[in-house]
Amino acid sequence: MTVTLQRHGAIAVVRIDNPPVNAVSHAVRQALMDAVAQTESDAKIGAVVLACAGRTFVAGADVKEFDAPPVEPHLPDVIAAIEAADTPWVAALHGTALGGGLEIAMGCHYRIADPKARMGLPEVTLGLVPGAGGTVRLPRLVSADLAVAMVAGGKPITARAALDAGLVDALAEGDLLEAALAFAETRPEPRRTLDLPVVGKTDPEAFDKIAANLRRKARGQSSVAIAVEALERGLTLPPAEALAEERATFLSLKTSDQARGLRHIFFAERATLADPRTKIEPRALTHIGVVGGGTMGAGIASLCLMRGLSVTLIERDDVSVEAGAERVRATLEGSANRGLLNDLDGAWARFQSATDYNALAEADLVIEAVFEDMSVKKEVFAGLDAATKPDAILATNTSYLDVNDIAACLKDPSRAIGLHFFSPAHIMKLLEIVLPDAVADDVVATAARLSKSLGKIGVFSGVCDGFIGNRIMSSYRSEADRLLLDGAWPSEVDAAMRTFGFPMGIFEMQDLAGLDIAWAMRKRRRAEGKLTGNESRIADRLCEEGRFGRKTNGGWYDYVDGRAQPSQHVAKVIDEERDAERMALSQDDIVSRILGALRREAEALLEEGIARSADDIDVVMVNGYGFPRWTGGPMFSAWSGS
Ligand code: COA
Ligand code: NAD
Repeated sequence: MTVTLQRHGAIAVVRIDNPPVNAVSHAVRQALMDAVAQTESDAKIGAVVLACAGRTFVAGADVKEFDAPPVEPHLPDVIAAIEAADTPWVAALHGTALGGGLEIAMGCHYRIADPKARMGLPEVTLGLVPGAGGTVRLPRLVSADLAVAMVAGGKPITARAALDAGLVDALAEGDLLEAALAFAETRPEPRRTLDLPVVGKTDPEAFDKIAANLRRKARGQSSVAIAVEALERGLTLPPAEALAEERATFLSLKTSDQARGLRHIFFAERATLADPRTKIEPRALTHIGVVGGGTMGAGIASLCLMRGLSVTLIERDDVSVEAGAERVRATLEGSANRGLLNDLDGAWARFQSATDYNALAEADLVIEAVFEDMSVKKEVFAGLDAATKPDAILATNTSYLDVNDIAACLKDPSRAIGLHFFSPAHIMKLLEIVLPDAVADDVVATAARLSKSLGKIGVFSGVCDGFIGNRIMSSYRSEADRLLLDGAWPSEVDAAMRTFGFPMGIFEMQDLAGLDIAWAMRKRRRAEGKLTGNESRIADRLCEEGRFGRKTNGGWYDYVDGRAQPSQHVAKVIDEERDAERMALSQDDIVSRILGALRREAEALLEEGIARSADDIDVVMVNGYGFPRWTGGPMFSAWSGS
């Protein structure tokens, strides 16, 4: 049953039960419409409590229905019927009341929330605006500045913030249903949100500032600016007019390329770990070892501590161990200051550091993040093999090296796996889970479980030089180099990709990371015979001159007071290396050549079986490498033609 109606004396409890997240499907809409008719026609019912079974109140419209034409009854009509009812409706909110769920709650006459609940209008993150009154009812309950942040920013707020803002009427002190029933027993008069005046702006400048900030960060995603406009109509137009305009905007956005791309990536992100091996019992994980306390090791250690695990950090000597521990402490403090960590002392109390592998005797999993050098990695793995429990999982955070080779150092290679975190490890969502040939099924299951418990989006990758993401990024770098040889300047390539929606251009990115890292890799690959020809010859020349990027005040750009400026010297080097006439290349030429190169590499990854699916590649590029989310990722945008 999707919706049930139960009597508690004179109170009717209408309960939605549509697992997993009580999304408002067609069946739910119809059943709610029927419940309104039934409760309105029954004189013995004095009030209605609208509650949800399972882990959450309605978390939104059923996104799976968005590719089909809408079917009656439409959600705005259901909400209008609830709001118009003569019997008071009280919404009992728990979990996440999102999108259509919050719109239903705002159509109810009163709202009681569990203190742990959160409320939001995330439609903008799916390329949409609210479609069932969100932009019209919300500003009648909360200030215009909070409303614009919620509608155009999409982030949910806590129940406490919702109470303070006026979005909910009370927080339940004990059981939510009992609190809602007690409230309904008082038989309050229906208070219709649409009849209320708009609350207005608390600070005349705040609204514009918030809106401008969100627009600036939108990176080509059009729903953000459209959401601000929809809210402005909600603030100024008569409600009926604003509702009609909102619905029309929602329906036209629903079939847009951007909304389809964002829906694609939403579902793709939730399917990456669908693998029979992730269904088996994982190994227990409480104590994590981390070897190497540099950028990545310290980030990974901090992340594990923030998620409740115990961590022992190993470094090569006393000075380095001290420095690593300092980095962990600083990351934890920074996270606590930003509200990402509640219990700093508790996290720090679970941290230990040492220089001796024997401190890892009880570790269930050890993640290695030492220098990117095969001989150092092999030495570390041989040491770990001897010092750890035989069933402890041994993971490497290598970016490029062969995980099969690393696994081969172990007596039992089935316990080795790659866990490729991204920097900063406690922030970036992506985790590439690299599967060497001999990996045990329950090691795969454990890595998948760990990924979820660390709040990451885990994607499986096969073993190859660079795995999914770095392989595709190498093809981006190579194509950008070819564009220079054909006639573009670094600043033109960067500007074109930023206009497309990348947060940063490839040459700016290299200057930030340091050109020396890729140079060292090219030298290694040339020595191994994996790189032939004279690719990257311009970058090689810059490195030979000591132009490593920002850290040397010069790389692809010159840096004056920390600001990047096109370099005449680099232009001269490029001119000298060009062996043909300069071609005229437009921004569109540049973008389409780079996207073409990315997709060719992605196709190769699929053919080689390194990536399991095109969807996984989209998830990697969007979450790890700044590929604009609204495109749906490089593979989706290729076949959808957007
Ligand atoms: N419509 C259809 N399916 C939905 C859905 C929606 N609005 N929201 C979540 N789901 C599905 C997911 O695809 C997933 O399905 P699966 O188990 O088959 O993979 C399942 O519900 C659980 O979602 P998941 O995100 O894995 O759970 P969570 O507990 O981490 O997060 C939410 C729950 C509700 C916070 C999160 O799913 C969410 O943000 N959903 C979207 C809400 C939204 O944007 N609503 C507005 C729609 S216009
Ligand atoms: P880093 O130089 O910041 O840190 C490496 C640390 O390892 C240093 O603190 C060093 O003292 C320590 N170390 C070296 N040999 C050791 C040994 N034998 N025992 C114990 N400690 C030892 O490097 P990083 O950027 O953190 O990178 C570490 C690994 O993570 C590399 O494999 C790298 O490819 C990978 N990685 C880096 C990034 C990134 O953006 N920096 C991203 C993903 C993966």
